[in-house]
Amino acid sequence: MLQRLIRFFQKASQEQTDEHGIVLDSVPNHVAIIMDGNGRWARRRGLPRIAGHRAGMQTVKEITRAADDIGVKVLTLYAFSTENWKRPTDEVDFLMRLPEEFLRMELETLMKRNCRIRILGYPEGLPEHTRQVVTDAEIKTKDNTGLILNIALNYGSRAEMLQAVKQIAQDVADGVLQVEDINEQSMDNALLTRGLPDPDLMIRTSGEVRLSNFLLWQVAYTELWFTDMFWPDFKREDFFHAIREFQGRGRRFGGLK
Ligand code: FPP
Repeated sequence: MLQRLIRFFQKASQEQTDEHGIVLDSVPNHVAIIMDGNGRWARRRGLPRIAGHRAGMQTVKEITRAADDIGVKVLTLYAFSTENWKRPTDEVDFLMRLPEEFLRMELETLMKRNCRIRILGYPEGLPEHTRQVVTDAEIKTKDNTGLILNIALNYGSRAEMLQAVKQIAQDVADGVLQVEDINEQSMDNALLTRGLPDPDLMIRTSGEVRLSNFLLWQVAYTELWFTDMFWPDFKREDFFHAIREFQGRGRRFGGLK
């Protein structure tokens, strides 16, 4: 018992933390965020919903910089789902203009920070102007080797999994894959996230406690963290708080500690 206590304190004193109390060698590689609560944030202020989305864009800027500052490798943000088309046309139109506004404001900084932008979703379903700006940003940043800012736009996990299953079935039909060789790796390779590590941490703001069709295959062993704060109120320090709590969790991946 005493030996275990000594080992615990030795380990704790060896851990290098930064000025935010974050343990530098266990920063999550991949953080995914469901940025929820923009509409309620606006309503509480007597503002139109789109004012909430614009404020939410400022939070995207702040949290992307914070993630990059502590060495997160991939940040995946749920900006627009395959189900969000059901919203009123003016809100959808506004949301489809936001990537353009964001990139106009932030692309230079992202380039300086060596960040790479990737779009996760089905670009063919986006309006031409949105598709064009996000594709340009992907091309401009493709050789950057720092943080990957993965923006989920027109993304839905069930659609992604269905497409993956169809691709695997086609490979079997074409004789390039045997049924008995289908494994988790086959699925990983057929998903839109191919090549990326699974999220270590998923954050959802606004008090809702659900996954809303986001990365359902990939979050099998992800640590989930929820806050009642609305996305536009979520600040750098709140992000660091989530990271510290993540670092306090014991991950066992189904095994024993
Ligand atoms: C959910 O809140 C939020 C969205 C559907 C859109 C999220 C988009 C942004 C934060 C800006 C995106 C920025 C870039 C760079 C693409 P909600 O509208 O469902 O809020 P509510 O639940 O309170 O109504």
